[in-house]
Amino acid sequence: MHTRGEKIAMLTCYDAIFARILDDAGVDVLLIGDSLGMVLQGHPSTLPVTVSEMVYHTACVARANRTAWVIADMPFASYQESAEQAYRNAALLMQAGAQMVKLEGGGWTAPIISFLVERGIPVCAHLGFTPQSVNALGGYRIQGRDESAAAPLRRQAKEIAAAGADLLVLEMVPASLARDLTKELSIPLIGIGAGAGCGGQVLVLHDMLGLTHGNPPRFVRNFMDGSTSVAGAIEQYVADVKAGRFPDDATHSF
Ligand code: KIV
Repeated sequence: MHTRGEKIAMLTCYDAIFARILDDAGVDVLLIGDSLGMVLQGHPSTLPVTVSEMVYHTACVARANRTAWVIADMPFASYQESAEQAYRNAALLMQAGAQMVKLEGGGWTAPIISFLVERGIPVCAHLGFTPQSVNALGGYRIQGRDESAAAPLRRQAKEIAAAGADLLVLEMVPASLARDLTKELSIPLIGIGAGAGCGGQVLVLHDMLGLTHGNPPRFVRNFMDGSTSVAGAIEQYVADVKAGRFPDDATHSF
């Protein structure tokens, strides 16, 4: 798809019924995100989510999915210790039905990514705002805003691609930085709050269906507005990502 210039439409998904609805609506990638810690479990962050909880939700999604690509998040403290620890936990997610695992962070993750990729586990990396590091980053805030903050992100993105990652999620970075990286890297960048220039987009499913407490982040659009069904809202998301109508840089980007 990336080689053809087709934008990739990705959404988070945590259970069987939504897996079937999203797959039928043409979503290309289902991400069992550790955002389920907040969305489903009511935690204030993703940190309490465990490997066994991720395995359970991955199996629920994989059972109902027919054609979409399935990525499972490696939760906090499941890959940070060593490449061997990462392999053991990634294997559990793959055995539950994932086709790729996602892990957060740059620099130190490159050897872990190569270790997994060399052993047959495809990897999606995640840079920019990385929710598992929310305490170190001082809250939910945009990353790489000026050149001194952007330079390490540019370096890490290249290291991660060289280590063998096949996809890179870029969260809450300026649209101009994401656009540059999209041109420089051969792997697809999937943006969330990273502007329209990426090779694809991802949102948290419940956010784009308007199922949120309080104000959603700036980069979210409620696709239920103007839609008469959940399936219709998801079809609209897919159509708008593919056509480059979502996100709108003036409204949803930094
Ligand atoms: O856990 C998640 O939902 C994610 C997305 C925000 C990309 O990692």
